[in-house]
Amino acid sequence: MEDTSFAIHPDREEGTEAATYHDIGDVVEWKKAEQGALFHCENGYVFVQFYREDILRITMNPKTVPVLEQSLAIASAKEQAEVDIQSSGEGLIIQTEKLTAILSLSPFRLKVTDAAGRLLLKEEERGMAFRHDGEVRCFKKMEKEDHFYGLGEKTGFLDKRGEKLTMWNSDVFAPHNPETDALYQSVPFFMTIREGKAHGVFLDNTFKTIFDFKREQARYFFSAEGGELDYYIMAGPSPKEVIEQYSWLTGRMELPPKWAIGYHQSRYSYKTAAEVRELVAAFKEKDIPLDAVFLDIHYMDGYRVFTFDQDRFPRPEALIQELSEEGIHVVPIVDPGVKKDPESPVYIEGIRGGHFCQYAEGDLYTGEVWPGISVFPDFFHDSVRQWWGEQHKFYTDMGIEGIWNDMNEPAVFNETKTMDLEVLHNYDGELKTHRELHNAYGLFMGMATYQGLKQQLNGKRPFLLTRAGFSGIQRYAAVWTGDNRSFWEHLQMSMPMCMNLGISGIPFSGADVGGFAHDAAEELLVRWTQLGAFMPYFRNHSNLGTVRQEPWSFGDKAESIIKQFIQLRYRWLPYIYTLFREAHQTGMPVMRALILEYPDDIQTVNLSDQFLLGEHVLVAPITKPNTSHRAVYLPEGEWYDYWTDQKMSGKRHILAEAEWDQLPLFIKEGAILPQADTFKPADQLSIHIYPGNEVSEFLLYDDDGETFAYQNGDYFELNIKAWKKGSTAYIEIDERHSGYTPTWKDISINVHGAVARMVINGKEQ
Ligand code: GLC
Repeated sequence: MEDTSFAIHPDREEGTEAATYHDIGDVVEWKKAEQGALFHCENGYVFVQFYREDILRITMNPKTVPVLEQSLAIASAKEQAEVDIQSSGEGLIIQTEKLTAILSLSPFRLKVTDAAGRLLLKEEERGMAFRHDGEVRCFKKMEKEDHFYGLGEKTGFLDKRGEKLTMWNSDVFAPHNPETDALYQSVPFFMTIREGKAHGVFLDNTFKTIFDFKREQARYFFSAEGGELDYYIMAGPSPKEVIEQYSWLTGRMELPPKWAIGYHQSRYSYKTAAEVRELVAAFKEKDIPLDAVFLDIHYMDGYRVFTFDQDRFPRPEALIQELSEEGIHVVPIVDPGVKKDPESPVYIEGIRGGHFCQYAEGDLYTGEVWPGISVFPDFFHDSVRQWWGEQHKFYTDMGIEGIWNDMNEPAVFNETKTMDLEVLHNYDGELKTHRELHNAYGLFMGMATYQGLKQQLNGKRPFLLTRAGFSGIQRYAAVWTGDNRSFWEHLQMSMPMCMNLGISGIPFSGADVGGFAHDAAEELLVRWTQLGAFMPYFRNHSNLGTVRQEPWSFGDKAESIIKQFIQLRYRWLPYIYTLFREAHQTGMPVMRALILEYPDDIQTVNLSDQFLLGEHVLVAPITKPNTSHRAVYLPEGEWYDYWTDQKMSGKRHILAEAEWDQLPLFIKEGAILPQADTFKPADQLSIHIYPGNEVSEFLLYDDDGETFAYQNGDYFELNIKAWKKGSTAYIEIDERHSGYTPTWKDISINVHGAVARMVINGKEQ
């Protein structure tokens, strides 16, 4: 019925909801509590507590004193903070050096300012409220200059002002469009940027949550269908500091194995070992670098996880071994649904161990997915995660080091698209409904898989790709944006989507290059590969029955350009890998919205079709057919065209020309870009320097790219400093850390711009 005009039936208009909400009311009494205060209000309790000097945690519970339990998304324990509490005319002031919470007591209202007295958040006539059906809600004043970012994986433009967004992990095969709301990931976190300054809010709640920046002009709200209203306010004040704060809270990614950031080829499905061999041989023959081949669901015996179809893949271990000798990894798909099959050992073992999700009465939950009627592991219990992780020995014993988790929202083929909400999960001893934990199912599957692989890989880094996730998924997996289509609009959309994933603490993301569903075409694949080469995760994947979209599928011209850009990706890997190191250390996204680096520049507020790779590289892909030019915004500073070295001043729009074989790419003065001249292995490194009048610095990072030895100091750091005086470029190179010897045999220095002399470490060259 939703597909007909019935959807706009006159009786369906939403009523005024205000009446159904109960305000938290006046403060009846309050007392000091650890790093904050506890308020007993007319209609409930509120805990205001500093979690770290620059992170304030607010927890409201209408019924009881909040428990302040450590939630499943949080990765760091509360830090000691100097907290000062004073009564004031307005009520009560609770503050650290970084943040001030001002509480008025009748009714209870919160206002937060930073050290400089700048207003972050304010509640006016409406503040914290709840409904008797369990919903909790929080209203905040929305200033005219507020813009909103983050919120995970969402369609639409970069800035979410004017949008209402729902967090409910959903498998959406229908074409993703600006109205598509809930997708596969839920990240109930947003960053507000107001006149160049930022703060963050993380609503730590796994129930269905809503963020509404649309309904009212001067107020927004966020709400959860159940649980406590438990949220963290992050002080900023810069957007990058908010990301540091949020990623400290929810965790950061490990370094990926280097092979995970190369080029990956997938298809639903490469159906036989022979087809896989042919594919790999074609890459080799055409000299197109490749790091991984994906096995979609057809590799399995009747879609049973932890099996190989004996006819299609008679000796999988031999295939994997053979490919590994070519330097290629095989990544099989693993979905959560286990076929209900009494002859399947995984099913029987899981049943015996009580590992599958059940109803309160003890009946198993079953739902239909690829293998037919299936059961679903209850990943919320440690012993189930352990068990599931161990199953992966089936793959790791064959030499597999990467797994692709799909359908883990979990997706089920029924009306609601997922598991019954009344199914119970055993959250390490505590029973919680699927309604409460739905959004975290993929996160916990990721945890089980990643930890299992890590245990089995003897010190090697696992790679996990996931479709579903929740805040914190970055600790275990890279995220791809699910079932996009071979539409130019989807190429466009992949940029704001992945930029916001980056702001949401998930630096390792990408979209299916070429588009998954619908048919790719020559020009689209060329342009999408150019974009993909500069996205954090780079995989070409397509659906059953669609036109083939391997790099050579559209003839010689497209093939040679696609090859050139895949090779370019490999040249850029030393730089990209260093950016991943930064993501690992500080949470900073590899692919950055311009607003992160230029928050004061009004032009960047909703700039959705160009992005930065790190700080100094600006990528502006062509996003339309039959087009060889586009407008590019260059922010302040001096910029170089990557291809011609033509220098341009920024803070203006330019018209960039880019024939099929080009991608508008700009390098900012001050950039220091290490690039490999060869790939797999990189044995010659060129450091490209674009010196400016001010000193710029880059800390090049490298390690073995495959083990965790870097955690014990086995890594390499080269600090490079550069500046220019007149026509002389000064460069200082100093090895900061020598725990690992890179594969480069030679390093050459290339200086760009008008430079006549070069002085390296004090010596004229
Ligand atoms: C889902 C995935 C897609 C995969 C397909 C078959 O649609 O999103 O990537 O190819 O299932 O496994």
